[in-house]
This record gives sequence, C-alpha cells and structure tokens, in this order.
Amino acid sequence: LDARKPLIAGNWKENPCTVQEAEALASEVAEATKQAGDVGVVVIPPYPFLVPVQNAASGALMIGGQNCYFEEKGAYTGAVSTAMLSSVGCTYVLCGHSERRTVFRNDDNAINRKLRAVLDHNMMPILCIGESKEEYDAGLNKAVCAIQLSKDLKGVTGEEMKRIVVAYEPVWAIGTGLTATPEIAQSVHDYIRGYLAKMYSREVADEVIIQYGGSVTPDSVDALMAMPDIDGALVGGASLDGAKFGRIINYK
Ligand code: G3P
Repeated sequence: LDARKPLIAGNWKENPCTVQEAEALASEVAEATKQAGDVGVVVIPPYPFLVPVQNAASGALMIGGQNCYFEEKGAYTGAVSTAMLSSVGCTYVLCGHSERRTVFRNDDNAINRKLRAVLDHNMMPILCIGESKEEYDAGLNKAVCAIQLSKDLKGVTGEEMKRIVVAYEPVWAIGTGLTATPEIAQSVHDYIRGYLAKMYSREVADEVIIQYGGSVTPDSVDALMAMPDIDGALVGGASLDGAKFGRIINYK
C-alpha cells in the first residue's frame, strides 16, 4: 500500500565507544541517504550521542531513543524520560527490544507504559516483538507475537496505532547471522497485520509499518523488502558499518 512509506532504522545498541566514531558514522549514513529512494532513515544511537549524531547528520536522518522510562522526571537514577528524548529531537523510541526484555527484565506492563509515554510525547514507538528459539521450534512464533501485541498495546486506540511501528524480530535471528527467510518473515508479518485488523480494523492494520529485524545485511535486504507486508528493517550489527548500512537503505 502506498500509504506505508518504507522505514529503515539502525539500532546501534551499546556502540560505538566514542562520540567521534558516532559522528563519523552518522555523516557516512547521511551521505548514503542522498542516493536512496523514498525511504525514511532513522539512527538509534546511545543516549549521549543523540545530539552530536543529529548535528553530524545535518537533517538527513531522523534519530530515535533505544529505550525510555515512563516517569517524566524525578528520583529515578539512570532513567531517561520520553520528555527528554522528545526535547532533543527524537522521532522514534524503541519499546520492548528483546535485549530489554531479557537482559534488563522489562515485562509487558512496563513496555506498555513506556509505549504510552512515547505516544503522549508525540513520538512514534517502534514496538519490538518476536519469539525465542525454543518458541520457534515449538511452532509458537505467531502465538508469541499475538500475546505480546495484546499486552503491549493495552489501551492503545486505533488512531494511536497508526503511529506505532511494529518490528518483528525473531530472537533467534538477532546477532546470529541467521536471517528468517523472506517467506517465513512475510508469513509472520501477514499474521501480525491480520491480528491488528482484528484488534482494530483493516483500515488501521493496513497503515501500520511492520519492520523485520534480525541479521539484516546488504545480501538479505532486497528479498526481504520485496515482500508485501515487510515495510522496513530494524538493523543491528550491519548498521554500525557505514558502507553496509548505506547499501541497506539503498535496497533494490
Ligand atoms: O534491533 C535490531 C536487532 O536486534 C537486530 O540485530 O545485529 O541481528 O541486525 P542484528
């Protein structure tokens, strides 16, 4: 559908180590967007690099936060609020990345509150969902996505849903080099869109951007992006290499 403009995001995770490296990578990616087609490009660096990255990209890129806390301000040492992310120019905020769910033990209730806070500050959540290796082997990939969607989207209206990006990231594909085949990814994306149509309406579901994430590389991106329900990519490792990410945002 024309309404869904492709969206490619680079989640830098806890990389790189210095602001100089972050700025250099941002300028390289900004340069690569000049040849790119009609695609939104967002980079999601660690918090301290948000402002320098935005400056280095001189308007060519959108920036996003990797996480947030749902309380707006106060005695919450180490926390960064959606108000703060919004004030430095973030357009997107990741909610429920599998590394937050597992390493930092974020449960669905916390993810739901974070997503709510992102919406309330007029930014767009990128809600990450996906099954583990064990769940995949047990044939539960779609069931896990359905449970995560129903819990994480609690209280979200149809109009709000149109501003939410869903990223399907099978945990077994993250950082492993094992990309889901375009066919497997498409079948889960189709399921997710159908589930959203049941939760909301076909009209709402047809507007939601659904990204695929999990070992996306220059070699796998074209076939993934050719699938009808894959509207973008959430890229980890390959987004740290300016040449590779540049090729990804210039997918064919
Ligand atoms: O959020 C992106 C992600 O988790 C995928 O990481 O390194 O497999 O591309 P990677």
